[in-house]
Amino acid sequence: MEFETKNGHLMWDGCDTVALAEKFGTPLYVFSKTMIEDKCQELQRDFVEKYQNVRVAFASKAFSTLAMLKIIERQGFSLDVVSDGELYTAIKADFPAAHIEMNGNNKSIEELTMAIDYGVGRIIVDSLQEVDLIAAVAKEKGKVVDILFRITPEVNVQTHSFISTGQKDSKFGIPIDETILFPQIKNAIDTAEVNFLGFHFHVGSQLFDNHAHLAAVEIALDLVKMVKERFDYLIKELNFGGGFGVRYTEQDQPQPFSYFTDPMMEKVLAFCQEENYPQPAIVIEPGRSIVAEAGISLHQIGAIKELPGLRKYVSIDGGMTDNIRPGLYAAEYTGILANKADEALVEKVTVSGKACESTDILVKDIELPQVESGDLFATFSTGAYGYSMASNYNKLAIPAVVLTNQGQAELIVKRQSLDQIIQNEVIPEFLK
Ligand code: LLP
Repeated sequence: MEFETKNGHLMWDGCDTVALAEKFGTPLYVFSKTMIEDKCQELQRDFVEKYQNVRVAFASKAFSTLAMLKIIERQGFSLDVVSDGELYTAIKADFPAAHIEMNGNNKSIEELTMAIDYGVGRIIVDSLQEVDLIAAVAKEKGKVVDILFRITPEVNVQTHSFISTGQKDSKFGIPIDETILFPQIKNAIDTAEVNFLGFHFHVGSQLFDNHAHLAAVEIALDLVKMVKERFDYLIKELNFGGGFGVRYTEQDQPQPFSYFTDPMMEKVLAFCQEENYPQPAIVIEPGRSIVAEAGISLHQIGAIKELPGLRKYVSIDGGMTDNIRPGLYAAEYTGILANKADEALVEKVTVSGKACESTDILVKDIELPQVESGDLFATFSTGAYGYSMASNYNKLAIPAVVLTNQGQAELIVKRQSLDQIIQNEVIPEFLK
């Protein structure tokens, strides 16, 4: 991985990471505003400004905090939320309602009501009862809600099966089936309280190959054509989801956004020309690719255990509670000793977390300089799905999050206190 150093310390967005750890404590998530904005700029240049009638909606599940949503809003991007909590965060960040898109495979009536009350721009329908639920709430509120159908394009993707979503046997999306999807479309067209705009798909996550996206675009365009033929109805919007891969280790060779978006747009534009069809709005929904590489995690090394001839474990003051991805998906990461960033790599160790769980191994067999207790381990590319999937397992506190901006650093999420960990707990009368 490429990184900058100064006085032997890892620098991140102009900030000395050792100083950040001293000031804010560890474990610590550090996000570079500069690097997040660089990714957004790439999307602006190679997608938003290059094509007409296209939008980016940041998938907030990757990293949803008030400060992050401000960065996204300032880009003019939309926001994808999937729960009351993500929507609440957006509302508290004053995110413009019209630019919010609500996904989710099991939205509760309370979530739909909250979304419709706030006036979100789109609701992406993912289940068979949902149109009627939305219509009932909308009727009560005197509103008409713009909807898309999330379809299951039935394409197979090259990624961990736990994060692939577009295959037929999936809890996500509505199968493209005569008896399932088409009656839903008819129902949506005939329902006054919803405005049926089009289709959404998300084929999977952490993809380096564009084939699944392109195959799904073709399937979506076939559907667009069928809807016109059957219902004499024009589709106004297509959402192609996210899933663009990032670099976690040297082995990962991520592609620029344009590797996905250019051929997808080519297919759309060719279709529109051939069919003489007005170009629908095209939306993409990246999460990971906007934030992953902008984030690092800082942990202090504590216990060191050498098992002669076997392995040397160096334990950090966090682990699966602040990064569940290695344990859950066998995800690989790499890192360095941030306080010995210029030193030669002299030993192979395994960096383990402090949770009571054997899968709590952050990085297996990593080459580092001579490791000592008190060293600072920096893990790269933890910006997506690290903080957002953090847990209180073993009653470990959720770490603080710092945002850097070319040499400046400010706390954007305070470290959880021990009191906060138990703040909702009560002892019932019969145990007193
Ligand atoms: N849109 C929809 C409807 C999605 O379901 C997802 C991710 C995204 C967009 C954003 O995908 P991205 O661009 O971030 O790949 N926790 C897993 C990832 C789960 C992704 C689920 N859906 C992980 O840590 O790898």
